[in-house]
Parts: sequence; structure tokens; C-alpha cells
Amino acid sequence: MSANPHPRPSVAHSIAALRETVRQWRRAGESVAMVPTMGALHQGHLDLVRAGLARRDRVVVSIFVNPAQFAPHEDFDAYPRTLDSDLDKLAGVGADVVFAPSAREMYPEGFATRIVPEGAALGLETDFRPHFFGGVATVVAKLLLACLADDAMFGEKDYQQLAVVRQLVRDLNIPTEIVGCPTTREADGLAMSSRNAYLTAAERAAAPVLHAAMQDAARAIRGGAMIEVALAPARERILAAGFRDLNYLVVRHAVTLAEVKDPASEPMRMLVAAWIGKTRLIDNIAV
Ligand code: PAJ
Repeated sequence: MSANPHPRPSVAHSIAALRETVRQWRRAGESVAMVPTMGALHQGHLDLVRAGLARRDRVVVSIFVNPAQFAPHEDFDAYPRTLDSDLDKLAGVGADVVFAPSAREMYPEGFATRIVPEGAALGLETDFRPHFFGGVATVVAKLLLACLADDAMFGEKDYQQLAVVRQLVRDLNIPTEIVGCPTTREADGLAMSSRNAYLTAAERAAAPVLHAAMQDAARAIRGGAMIEVALAPARERILAAGFRDLNYLVVRHAVTLAEVKDPASEPMRMLVAAWIGKTRLIDNIAV
């Protein structure tokens, strides 16, 4: 990939190696941003790297498919692992280091401490994936503490996750600022996701209805429609387009994710999770 303006990032496989690299940057007076990922990188991930580089001198991208956030019946084994092309993509945007630990490095023999988030973690995703945010919070805490970056970049694409991570960092006094970044979308509105690779051609063609239906419903709510009145046709449209299970399509308080009490005065977020074929997609937009 000689067309790349930057060299491939170097890869740290151990926490000790990552810490040594960060120590050298700190000695040179440089600031650091971290971008935690599970790899199979797309433009959404690369936009987080760009946002990190806009704020800080150095960017660490972690690539770790975290077994602790997958239930036994979920797609841990099938999850795409594409480290080689990920490194090329990261060279294209100028990421400095990739932290790619083994499962043994993150969860060594005798590992026995788990974080159990409440608050923002309750409801929505947790109703369908009960142990998901425990796995996310535990690994994110470990990643942030391994790196001790100034900032960590997270996508609004995973809106509840972003809220859980903000809560985690606040509650455990982790000295890294959490920076939320807008969702990167395909031209037809579909939110970019590593899991879009699972979609068949027909499913891919139907998938943008999630975003389109949410946009129409949000417009109706802004125009004064009652929330439930606006959501009902959106639910029907999503199911009619070929989604089979609509886990939720709801409007919540944009910060606390609590039920909306006063639509006239609260900041609101619309969130959706739905199955199409063998793939579960999530998305959200501001109302
Ligand atoms: P992953 O799904 O790889 O996502 C890594 C980061 O990229 C998350 O912050 C996610 O919100 C962000 N992201 C994904 N798609 C995006 C898009 N279309 N636009 C903007 N940002 C996007 O989320 C995880 O991994 C894991 O749960 C992790 C936090 C790494 C813990 O294992």
C-alpha cells in the first residue's frame, strides 16, 4: 500500500508494550486519544480516529473482539476478524499504534472481577442482551486503564453504550474524557456497522428503512405529534420492509435514557433495534 501517506501503525500485543509506548509519548510532551474497537473497521471507525487526531497528538486504536460481551448463542465466532486490512485502513488516516491483545492478555488465568453497570445500562439493549453492558464496561475499563489516554472516542451509533461508558468513567474516576462522535452513514442512510457484512443483498436493500422510518417519525414529533402516534406507523413500515423482530423503537430522554415525561422540554433520542434475517441492527437519531 505505497499510496498510503502514513506508515502502517505498529502493533502492541501486551498491556506492558502499550504502556511503554504511551510513556515515551508523554515524556515527549505529547497528548493521546484512544479509539476502542472490535476491528472489521469501516468509515465510522476511521472517523473516530480522525476526530481523535484532530484533538490529540497521538491515537491508539484497540482491536479486540471481546468474548465477555457476547452471549453463548451470539456471533463471537462469526464476528469478522480482518487485522491486516484494518492496519492498511488505519495507515490511511494516520493512527499511531494498534493495541491488539489476545484474550489471554485481557483475561488471564484467575481473572475474577467484573463490572456490573446499572443506571444507563438498564432497559433497551439489556432487555435483549442481559450481560452485554457488563462485558462492555469491564473491557472498556481495562482498555482505558491500560492506555490512560487524555480522550477516548466513542460513536453515537451505539448510543446506550456511549451513555454507559460516560457513567463508568464518572463512577470509577477513570481520568480519560469520553468524546461522543456522530454516526457515519452509507449514502442511503444505513448506519455503518461491522455487522452489515452479514446482510444478504435483499436485506442490505431493505436495511435503510430503519433510518428513513425514524427520520419521518422524528419529524412528526417535532411537528407536534404524540410520540406513540408517530412511532406506530414507523414500526409497521420497518416490519413491512422485511425486518422480522422489532426489539424496540422508542423515544427516550437523550441524556438519561429514562422515559420521556415532558416532550416539550426534554432533549429526546429515538432508538431502534431490529432483526433482519440472522442480523440484529441498532440505530438512533436525535429528535
Ligand atoms: P465496535 O462495534 O467495533 O465499535 C467501536 C466504536 O466505533 C464504538 O464507539 C462505536 O460506537 C463506533 N462506531 C461503530 N459504527 C459507527 C458509525 N457508523 N459511526 C460512528 N461510530 C461508529 O462498540 C464496540 O466495538 C465495542 O463494544 C467496544 C466499545 C470496543 C468494547 O468492546
